Amino acid sequence: MQTSQFTKIACIGSGLIGVGWTVNFIVKGYSVNLYDINKPQLETAAKLIQRNLEFLVAKEVLTQEGAAEAASRIFYYTDLAEAVKDVQFVQEAGPERYDVKQSILAEVEKHVSDEVVFASSTSGLLLTEIAKHAKHPERCLGAHPYNPVHLIPLVEITKGDKTSEKYVNLACEFYQQLGKEPIVLKKEALGFIANRLQVALYREAVELVMRGVCTVEEVDKAALFGPGLRFGILGPNLIFQLGGGAHGITGILTHIGPSVEMWWADMADWKRFPEGWIEMAQVGVDKAMANRDKQIGNTNEEVSRYRDDMLVEVLKLHKKL
Ligand SMILES: NC(=O)c1ccc[n+]([C@@H]2O[C@H](COP(=O)([O-])OP(=O)(O)OC[C@H]3O[C@@H](n4cnc5c(N)ncnc54)[C@H](O)[C@@H]3O)[C@@H](O)[C@H]2O)c1
Repeated sequence: MQTSQFTKIACIGSGLIGVGWTVNFIVKGYSVNLYDINKPQLETAAKLIQRNLEFLVAKEVLTQEGAAEAASRIFYYTDLAEAVKDVQFVQEAGPERYDVKQSILAEVEKHVSDEVVFASSTSGLLLTEIAKHAKHPERCLGAHPYNPVHLIPLVEITKGDKTSEKYVNLACEFYQQLGKEPIVLKKEALGFIANRLQVALYREAVELVMRGVCTVEEVDKAALFGPGLRFGILGPNLIFQLGGGAHGITGILTHIGPSVEMWWADMADWKRFPEGWIEMAQVGVDKAMANRDKQIGNTNEEVSRYRDDMLVEVLKLHKKL
């Protein structure tokens, strides 16, 4: 099977992530069989998909006609056999539990045709375990997206002990055609890559507030208006390459290396959230939300909309939309 033969994708699970994948697939011209065990959830999903399409129309990523045509390529199912029988790729987005993912995979394998890849959206389960009873573990892989899936390009590809490189390459090619940036993990790592980076930063953010160095609002501001703006453009190694001037990353690491080692020695390395942090975080976030300029939103809904507005602009600059 080649990606040029892909026309229809099955998406298993129509929650937050299933909806995001579906929008991504239809916007890129594929048909989608969207399956859920819960019929009312499919109705909720249809409304969310419509809302996301309207957003893309408002942002001039799609035309009104294009959005209507894309929506007409979604087929809703509560029968798994029907949902997968005529597809070339399966994207699983069901609950984050081994037993559920294993039983979805077992059922999918009974009805898909040969060569169909089973890609799980798992945020952290091991592929070897998800595929341990599979008839074709070589066709099973992890494809972890980032929310909102229809906008954020990253997909982390994980392999089980029997996953074949042939299907990893096929999946990567497919995700690239969707406008994604797939990264294949060379070995299994809890939390994969991006979430490990995210929580490494978060630990120090918590530490700084707990030590009284700054407030929740200030630590967020420091991340956003400092390194965060650069991270939207370059990764940490290229940032250092530029920071080192003519000597590049070698120059900066040699220059500030001893200071960095002093900071590291002083930084948090706890493995459990400090007691009281969750309550403190909520109080800090509520204050930060209230202090935001009205134009950039004070409620979760308004701030999500602001985030997506900004994401679209950045993605357009990256030529990802
Ligand atoms: N939420 C995130 O930010 C995020 C990000 C990346 C990956 N993921 C992963 O994506 C997957 C889905 O997460 P989500 O946030 O969309 O969850 P969700 O709870 O919003 O959606 C899960 C959906 O699966 C359906 N479901 C339950 N049992 C099922 C079954 N046997 N067959 C088919 N569908 C079934 C539920 O009805 C629900 O609609 C999880 O593996 C999660 O770890 C989540």
